[in-house]
Amino acid sequence: MDKYIIKGGNRLVGEVNISGAKNAAVAIIPAVILADAPCRLENIPDISDVKTITTILEEMGAEVRYLDRNTVEIDPRCVDTDVIPYEFAKQIRASYYFIGALLGRYNRATVPLPGGCNFGVRPIDQHLKGFTALGCTTGLDGGMISVEAEKLRGANIYLDVVSVGATINIMLAATKAKGYTVIENAAREPHIVDLANFLNTMGANISGAGTDTIKIRGVDKLRGVTYAIIPDQIEAGTYMVAAAATGGDVYVRNITPKHLESISAKLVEMGVKIEEGDDFVHVMRTGPLRKCNIKTMPHPGFPTDMQPQITALLTIARGTSMVSESVWEGNRFRYVDELKRMGAEINVDGKSAVIEGVEKLKGAPVRSNDLRAGAAMVIAGLICEGETQVEEIHYIERGYDSIVDKLVDLGANIYRSSKPDGIIEKIS
Ligand code: EPU
Repeated sequence: MDKYIIKGGNRLVGEVNISGAKNAAVAIIPAVILADAPCRLENIPDISDVKTITTILEEMGAEVRYLDRNTVEIDPRCVDTDVIPYEFAKQIRASYYFIGALLGRYNRATVPLPGGCNFGVRPIDQHLKGFTALGCTTGLDGGMISVEAEKLRGANIYLDVVSVGATINIMLAATKAKGYTVIENAAREPHIVDLANFLNTMGANISGAGTDTIKIRGVDKLRGVTYAIIPDQIEAGTYMVAAAATGGDVYVRNITPKHLESISAKLVEMGVKIEEGDDFVHVMRTGPLRKCNIKTMPHPGFPTDMQPQITALLTIARGTSMVSESVWEGNRFRYVDELKRMGAEINVDGKSAVIEGVEKLKGAPVRSNDLRAGAAMVIAGLICEGETQVEEIHYIERGYDSIVDKLVDLGANIYRSSKPDGIIEKIS
């Protein structure tokens, strides 16, 4: 089984370029099927989730051509199905964005009901509520969810919970619905704004993205365009935390500092120095880390997708910190047991973790429970005394483009081992 082997203790110093946003890419790529001509997408991250979603598109008949590792041209004109097969969809939850996109194209879609995930129950009732309001009927047969309408009609939709996925899916379907749709209590994440900008560039009429009220006037046709995906907020935040964790001095480049304000604010509270430029942040730490309390919230609050990484950092902050999860269920804290194996002192009670800062962590074999938990293991490995082996790295590679190369460039001692289990490797 492939692993990352990390020898901790090196300060991260230098510059890192942030890739395009995973969660924008996995929404924008399905949206291409709404266009009547090819689209060129730039700044696409080279990660396995993007490969999975483009493979689904190819299976649907689209022509997908990589011009370089971050630029893809997709011709949706040959798409000839409104059904997504289970064997592809099960690999990635975002495959449910094909429901909204196929509804926009064909007024019907049959997509496998997304399975459970490793950090809790993930219902799609708000997506279905939106589709029903747009005039669809929904049905479930053999694990496949079918959604169809004679004609999609604009509607007022109030989301009972702030949901990124439901906001995106409803936007996709409503873009070509007849009339006017208003999504209230909409999610405000940067990738929602990015999807709206992409759709508007294609000819859609969407306003209010980035606020909690999104208004969509349906259009008949969307054209092919060239579009660059925004930088990945969470990848940027992960390198900021890694820099802080190692007492480093890192320029995190090709980012939108505004998207990182909640992360920067917490790092500053912990004693980290942050300077902001137009498209970079400079992260430096020379003194000790101070305790800090953090509650995850929908954007613009502190992102749940940074919760494991910041907890890894707080394990070595002076004093007692508390991290509370308010977006997902409590088992987004499952990775805490892995941190404890490295010497962290953390108690989880329901949706909160209480962290007693320790002097240092010690290297151990640990596993990634999910993508962000995996990133937390890497950060912990970078500050551990001795060697850390991070297993189940396929989770990490779903969302972090070239993580090993980027960390090595910053001075980390990390490599990817593909040796079969049972062979013990040593770092020289
Ligand atoms: N929810 C419902 N009903 C729904 C939809 C959501 O109750 O119909 C609840 C969820 O159970 C959860 C909350 O609403 O408690 C928020 O879920 P949301 O729908 O916003 O999450 P998502 O769209 O499934 C996206 C990201 C996640 C990120 C969350 C929250 C993508 C592909 N995924 O998931 O990212 O944690 O928003 O910000 O955009 C990651 O990148 O590691 C990741 C997991």
